[in-house]
Amino acid sequence: MATTEFRGPQEEAGRARLAAVDLEHPPEKPVITHENVYSEETPYEQWLMRMVWTDARRAIPLLMEWVNGMPSFDGPADDSDVLPPGAPPFERPMHWLKTPIHFTPLWDPKWVRTYYVGNNYFTFTQPERVKPLFERIYAHERPKRILDMGCGVGPSTIALAELFPDAEVIGIDLGSHFVRFARGWAARRGLKNIAFYAQHAGATSFPDNAFDIVNESYVLHEQPQPEAQKIVAEMKRLLRPGGRFSCIDVIYDETEEARQARVQRAKGPEPFLSEYMKLNLEQHLRGMGFVNINRINGWQQIAPGYPGGAWDCMVITGMKP
Ligand SMILES: C[S@@+](CC[C@H](N)C(=O)[O-])C[C@H]1O[C@@H](n2cnc3c(N)ncnc32)[C@H](O)[C@@H]1O
Repeated sequence: MATTEFRGPQEEAGRARLAAVDLEHPPEKPVITHENVYSEETPYEQWLMRMVWTDARRAIPLLMEWVNGMPSFDGPADDSDVLPPGAPPFERPMHWLKTPIHFTPLWDPKWVRTYYVGNNYFTFTQPERVKPLFERIYAHERPKRILDMGCGVGPSTIALAELFPDAEVIGIDLGSHFVRFARGWAARRGLKNIAFYAQHAGATSFPDNAFDIVNESYVLHEQPQPEAQKIVAEMKRLLRPGGRFSCIDVIYDETEEARQARVQRAKGPEPFLSEYMKLNLEQHLRGMGFVNINRINGWQQIAPGYPGGAWDCMVITGMKP
């Protein structure tokens, strides 16, 4: 039996939330369709999520079966509905096409709801939760254009669009299905200043210096190191001089021992965590020539009052000189 342990203060809170679910009595399976796909997480999904984190071997076939019954967010094979205007089709990196993350095949167009409700556990970036963080980081900014790299179903993109109603906010993701789902979510919230496109964050079709703010949340720890480096380089190319960035991602523990322990605990759901730890994101960002770099560790410092998610995190902010 594979058991994922949670340590650390925020992880403890996530563990407690999961522990409240009774594993022995699976709730009835709801029927999810395109009509109710944006509904709240159901008791069955909470149960399944706890199963995934406590008994992966038993849970994964159930998770696959569940996802197979989900509405699909597929579309035209040439991505014509999700590419930025005038942008050519692009290739997805092999690791994204082949390596499941959190046991989930990211490329499967039926997985999107799992990420939408999974925000309760994996990424904490529900719009309401991440907004106070962006408010704090960007309190003195008056951005006109904002890019959210690897936006997934769009929670942080939505938060930025709601915080900066006068800015044009763009979310990009490798998954066309994430883009389609995110568009539907933003439309339901009545947002007019937001757009989502399929793009590779390491090689976008946007011009140099095009954005005042670039954010990534929980994208870099899911990359082989050369891919993470490409994304950081693209972040620099796309920011205007004086533009600011935020990386919200898995915490870089202070000691090698703690880093290795975290890598071991996340073995399976986080196949690239070891490469991310070796990168040492803060050091890498400094080496790339970003300035005014600041790092905050842990949700209680980052967003006081936030009850915590399943993973400890850090936020690194900085500026392109
Ligand atoms: C853990 S999810 C985080 C999603 C979202 N940022 C959030 O905080 O909820 C990572 C996302 O990054 C996307 N991604 C990974 N590599 C990418 C790349 N090179 N370019 C664009 N998106 C990428 C994945 O498809 C996935 O949706």
